[in-house]
Amino acid sequence: MAASVPVEKTIYLGAFAHCVSLAELEIVEKGALGVNEQGVISFVEKEVDVEDVRKRHDGWHDARIVSVKDGFFFPGFIDTHTHAPQHPNTGLFGKTTLLDWLDKYTFPMESSFSSLDKASRIYTNFVSRTLSHGTTTCAYYATRHVEATNLLADICLARGQRALVGRVCMDRLSPEYYRDESVESAVQDSKACINYVRSIDAEGSIVRPIITPRFAPSCTASCLAGLGKLAQETDAFVQTHVSENTSECALVKELFPDSESYTHVYEEASLLTPKTILAHAIHLSAEERKLIKERGSKISHCPASNTALTSGCCPVRELLNEGITVGLGTDVSGGFSPSILEEARHAIWTSRFVAMGTPAAAASSLNNAAKLSTAEALYLATRGGAAVVGLKDRVGGFEVGKEFDVQMIRLGSVPEYGDKEGAFGENGASGPVDLFGFESAEEKVEKWVYSGDDRSCVAVWVRGRLVHKTARYEA
Ligand code: GUN
Ligand code: ZN
Repeated sequence: MAASVPVEKTIYLGAFAHCVSLAELEIVEKGALGVNEQGVISFVEKEVDVEDVRKRHDGWHDARIVSVKDGFFFPGFIDTHTHAPQHPNTGLFGKTTLLDWLDKYTFPMESSFSSLDKASRIYTNFVSRTLSHGTTTCAYYATRHVEATNLLADICLARGQRALVGRVCMDRLSPEYYRDESVESAVQDSKACINYVRSIDAEGSIVRPIITPRFAPSCTASCLAGLGKLAQETDAFVQTHVSENTSECALVKELFPDSESYTHVYEEASLLTPKTILAHAIHLSAEERKLIKERGSKISHCPASNTALTSGCCPVRELLNEGITVGLGTDVSGGFSPSILEEARHAIWTSRFVAMGTPAAAASSLNNAAKLSTAEALYLATRGGAAVVGLKDRVGGFEVGKEFDVQMIRLGSVPEYGDKEGAFGENGASGPVDLFGFESAEEKVEKWVYSGDDRSCVAVWVRGRLVHKTARYEA
């Protein structure tokens, strides 16, 4: 699907919700969003007389109308960190923690992507999955295989999902069967992927390349430096992991004894840029956070993975208070779900664990300060994520000039209590969220956040183009 194919001029009618700031979720019950042929929002109305809307806008009298019933439009989710080749391992972590989990599950699976046939099947399936959960932009790690990485970019472009796609670099402390032969080959192969991705989408509006050193323990200092130089030469995004697990942090100290901290290892390699996405960032010192803030690098918070691998609870409130840009990442298959909605729930839970961390914290007023609200979690899932992946002026909310990356959410109603027409048949059984007719607009969103899943997401658009729909989408 070419990125520049025009879409049909459309007015989206009905309720919409989006985060206008970290703390504030705006819900409009009778809205209209006019989306032009370039997939850009041309007008936003908040109290709409349905009959009238087409007439009131010059040149829109014959525009297509798409209405949402029993639900609302919501900005598409941004997944700022996930591993597409780990999809087959989703849900498998047993009692491992990061380093033995990598050896037991991750490296054997990733190495099998030397098979293009396997890569094609798994990547096609995973991109469909993330889209079906409302993810319109995704920062993907692929594997060290150039052809399979390029194939992932092809698949994202064909499906119309915005993506950052990175070839993983690792030239030490990984099994011999799955390791870069040299610094030169790691840099050359990364360059080949950058050139390929830029050749298939020169405009960079759907797929973009991202330089991907796996993490400091699996890269020599010269490999990191080579990739830092490549980032400068190509002005590409960078993604890696930082300070996820205490054993990993100890290993970094051992491997880089002259570096002041884990974060400084990346700083010394010129890898901390405003286009750098650092995943996890759980055990950072105040100095490391200050350095990240100064460099303008961004953080991907991956709470489901952090609990699954018992890595720790990231103190997100501190990051936000210090002005660091934060988004959410599913981190499949450390994380066990491709859903950013699920991740938003985990972000809220994790913030509560931080609040309850010690009896003193639980008893003090500090606990409320640590807790993320529903609105804040949704902000991280949309606008926060958009800022992490360099799209803050283009997606994440409903303003004139933003591109229409959106999901349509529908909720079920129990006919005897709510709407007689009951959206999904008897007992609302085909959707995960039941409405009983008493819920305010805010309560509908709350119910979705805590009980919704991919069955609630009935259609997804990227730049105004429909890229996913279920049987419950009625145009
Ligand atoms: N650190 C290095 N590689 C990985 C990975 O694949 N997943 C996670 N969660 N952490 C990592
Ligand atoms: Zn990861």
